Amino acid sequence: MAEWVRLCGAEDAPEEGNVMEAEAKGVTVCVARIAGKLAALDNWCPHRRGPLGQGWVEGESVVCPWHSWAFDVHSGDVLPPDRGHVAVFPVKIEGADVLIDLG
Ligand code: FES
Repeated sequence: MAEWVRLCGAEDAPEEGNVMEAEAKGVTVCVARIAGKLAALDNWCPHRRGPLGQGWVEGESVVCPWHSWAFDVHSGDVLPPDRGHVAVFPVKIEGADVLIDLG
């Protein structure tokens, strides 16, 4: 069941090609803006729990700042040759707020 919660203000969301960390209901989320769209992923890298929201954008991926695993922002899958996955949350802008679905 959908559970839309406020993640941050729309004005506070990252600019094109940037990432940041934000928190919603105690869940830390990596937020990225790629090709004009916001993406929201679980912040913690499955390798050694690096903070993806402190990483960077490469193409359609967010790169972990610790050992450079790259995560497709659409699927949450790690790009080869590494393997792993993080949750991807549906995201939308409503008025002045960025909401994610934690459901
Ligand atoms: S902790 Fe993310 S790549 Fe190692």
